[in-house]
Amino acid sequence: MNKTIALFLLFTTLLSAEIITPIPDVKPFDKAKVALGKKLFFDTNFSKDRTVSCASCHSDFGTDRRALSIGVENKKGIIHSSTVFNAVNNYKQFYNGRAANLNEQIDGPIHTDYEMGISDQDVENNLNTSKEYKATFKKVYNQVPSYKLFKDAIVAFEETLLTPNSRFDRFLKGEDSLTQLEKDGFNSFKEHGCAACHNGVNVGGNSMQMIGSVIEYPYIEGQQDLYALTKKEMDKNVFRVPSLRNINKTAPYFHDASASTLEEVVIKMSYYNLGTILEDKETEAIIAFLKTLDGDIPKTWSEDVK
Ligand code: HEC
Ligand code: HEC
Repeated sequence: MNKTIALFLLFTTLLSAEIITPIPDVKPFDKAKVALGKKLFFDTNFSKDRTVSCASCHSDFGTDRRALSIGVENKKGIIHSSTVFNAVNNYKQFYNGRAANLNEQIDGPIHTDYEMGISDQDVENNLNTSKEYKATFKKVYNQVPSYKLFKDAIVAFEETLLTPNSRFDRFLKGEDSLTQLEKDGFNSFKEHGCAACHNGVNVGGNSMQMIGSVIEYPYIEGQQDLYALTKKEMDKNVFRVPSLRNINKTAPYFHDASASTLEEVVIKMSYYNLGTILEDKETEAIIAFLKTLDGDIPKTWSEDVK
């Protein structure tokens, strides 16, 4: 087969197949364990000066509004916070994918001195000096509290943080329709090539790609990109593609928080990653499509887990 035809076929297959899939239902879970994980997630006692919890940087739609998060002793971080909502469906964790899963991820904030800044042993001591935690761990695990179980409970909570029922998912399931503008936006999203990187259940979160793949993007020395792990020149400004689920709710955008509106982010993305200047009408349509990805706040987040 001639190469042009092969490419053409690949392209049309990409366009016709549904490249975004709906968020699945939350799997059945152990309520007592998830309630414990939630309590730990919101508890500031597991940080060096007892002022910071996971939720300090992951409160608003699972992220925070600050350009850089603030950790213990008011220390500033070095990258914008990502949302914990739907994170379980990302193929790796962190902007540069340095944690393989949610369990490994927790070691990051706990041990980093500008985030929570404590050791595994500190976590265990703090748990074991609390009568309430000791009783809850006994009930949930029939064991004394440990760092391993602390992580296990937080992960169980995070696994429930899915945002189903977006208008787009309902459209995929044939339960809702999109307006013409939203449909045009989805088509532009596919035709311009956004969907080459932003696809799957999280509309992203499943590959490592460069910001500035077409036009070079400013580089920040010491940033946590893939280069920080591999030290290969070609990995500079390479990040795990972010999920676009609830993107309308999680400004500011990009690892450097350099875009604060959807308009800015869509214009910059198409410029740096596609070398395209979109027409205003197309930008407007893509934004309308992106807004259909807003889902429900997870029930375990907004309601007591009982
Ligand atoms: C001081 C702020 C801060 C605290 C505290 C914090 N995080 Fe984060 N979190 C961040 C930042 C910033 C990132 C992005 C870092 C990166 O990718 O290099 C992040 C990333 C994550 C991610 C990865 C999401 C993804 O899609 O890659 C998860 C999951 C997460 N945090 C969960 C937690 C949990 C659980 C805790 C508590 C044990 C916690 N965080 C505490 C700031 C914080
Ligand atoms: C070559 C792969 C690639 C293509 C094509 C691409 N993106 Fe991205 N996108 C990325 C990467 C990588 C990031 C993370 C950049 C960063 O954090 O600095 C990103 C970030 C974003 C963000 C910000 C997410 C957040 O939470 O901060 C949005 C919104 C976005 N892209 C939308 C689009 C749209 C719309 C298009 C098409 C016009 C597009 N992208 C094309 C790889 C791509």
